[in-house]
Amino acid sequence: MGRKFLVGGNWKMNASKALVDTLVGSLNTASWNPDLIEVVIAPPAPYLDLVRSKVKKEVAVSAQNIYFEKKGAFTGEISSEFLKDLGITWTIIGHSERREIFKESDEVTAKKVAYALAEGLNVIACVGEKLEEREANQTTAVVFRQLKAIADVLKPEDWDRVVIAYEPVWAIGTGKVASPQQAQDVHAEIRSWLTANVSESVAHATRILYGGSVGAKNSGDLQSQEDIDGFLIGGASLTASSSSRRSCRL
Ligand code: G3P
Repeated sequence: MGRKFLVGGNWKMNASKALVDTLVGSLNTASWNPDLIEVVIAPPAPYLDLVRSKVKKEVAVSAQNIYFEKKGAFTGEISSEFLKDLGITWTIIGHSERREIFKESDEVTAKKVAYALAEGLNVIACVGEKLEEREANQTTAVVFRQLKAIADVLKPEDWDRVVIAYEPVWAIGTGKVASPQQAQDVHAEIRSWLTANVSESVAHATRILYGGSVGAKNSGDLQSQEDIDGFLIGGASLTASSSSRRSCRL
């Protein structure tokens, strides 16, 4: 069976009750074939419950990050227990903003991925190179290093609940999208890496999303690439217009 296209909306640190009403209202009236497309939205933590209670059940709701302890003296952190209590089934881990701004290392990221999976959550695990790394021809070295840290802590069966998001840092929020060929090249490299280092079946089944300035204008060309199995959309997921729904192929 083919890989189901996944459209993820990462709201980052943007929300209000009014925005929830607008965005959820728009999603609730949109229709798509759930056999072909899976939709996951990731609002900020304080809005997870509200979004889950309002959005239709075909839409899965995701956290943007979690910690790797169930409870205790970890001020400001988000527990997998909270998510399960609220009916939240996904979390993003290792977004470049976590890695860069909050200094989360490959090891911390891997630990979080393993923990989230052990807690029964689905994970969108992010990887991607910075501009200077791409310019130094280090793209695959960086992406493979990030992937290896994650793969090293996973059991074969864990991969059923892992989606990889390739988000070149230079394309995030910049309007400078990777060309379809640039994205396809890295996605294909990621799939080959999975074949060589995990297994052929995991490489074949694992979805690899592209993230970085995806919008209505570029989504069609990106989507037509063989190894692009979905999008993780930031800015464009915050507008409820029909063009933004088109960028999600909804
Ligand atoms: O996680 C999504 C992301 O980082 C891409 O953001 O605003 O470039 O679509 P944006």
